[in-house]
Amino acid sequence: MDHAAEEMRTFWDDRARENAAWYVDTTCDYDHPDMDAFFAVGRKVVAEAFVDAPVRPPGNRLAVEIGPGLGRISLALAEHFERVIGIDISAEMVERARGLVTNPAVSFEVGNGTDLRPLESGRVDFVTTFTVLQHLPSPELIDGYLRDAARVLAPGGILAAQWNNLPHPSAWRARAIWWRLRNRIGGPLKMDARVARPFIGTRLPLDVVTRTLEDAGMTIRATKGLGTLFAWVWAEKTGPVG
Ligand SMILES: C[S@@+](CC[C@H](N)C(=O)[O-])C[C@H]1O[C@@H](n2cnc3c(N)ncnc32)[C@H](O)[C@@H]1O
Repeated sequence: MDHAAEEMRTFWDDRARENAAWYVDTTCDYDHPDMDAFFAVGRKVVAEAFVDAPVRPPGNRLAVEIGPGLGRISLALAEHFERVIGIDISAEMVERARGLVTNPAVSFEVGNGTDLRPLESGRVDFVTTFTVLQHLPSPELIDGYLRDAARVLAPGGILAAQWNNLPHPSAWRARAIWWRLRNRIGGPLKMDARVARPFIGTRLPLDVVTRTLEDAGMTIRATKGLGTLFAWVWAEKTGPVG
């Protein structure tokens, strides 16, 4: 495992031990997260990414979630797929997800943080990811996951991915600097974990996402929320399996 993956794993393992629900969804109450509301958001995300999506895959055998955290989205996906696999870099998150989600159709695995191995090529009907790509610290890591999603999808399979498409990289950088500054002013011991590299993450323009997906044998079918932190792309596997 390379340095960037080690850094991401350590960061998310620490966050899971500190307060897993809050770091998955910082709109939760830090001390008393309402877990029913938390899991209800999983169904809302699946409604957006799959149920009400502009395009859906022909098959319903296997869905994969990149970065499932505590499993709220994977659990909701099991209402639509025979089997769901969530692959997360953090063993601590995976352990907690296994404790919270007991539906036998859903399983959680610790991944390598850079791709979906050991999943086989061409077997998956649907790949989705929400509030994960936005945290990855480099464009290359996002590129890697998009390419590997294309690899594991069956012909006609669909990728529904949310990513950070905020414009103006300098404005994004300024926001990160301001966040760090605010923390220092608040006291050197009170460093907010949200200013760390594995949380601040990366924004990407649509043309970079498009180039990567097309190069990997995908055809973009729809986008939503462009220019925001919650941009979505739906892409279909149209190229050869490999
Ligand atoms: C903000 S949480 C979102 C969890 C889930 N998608 C949800 O919305 O309920 C981000 C998750 O992505 C995982 N993650 C971060 N970097 C990752 C990587 N490189 N590969 C796989 N998972 C990663 C974290 O461990 C964490 O569980």
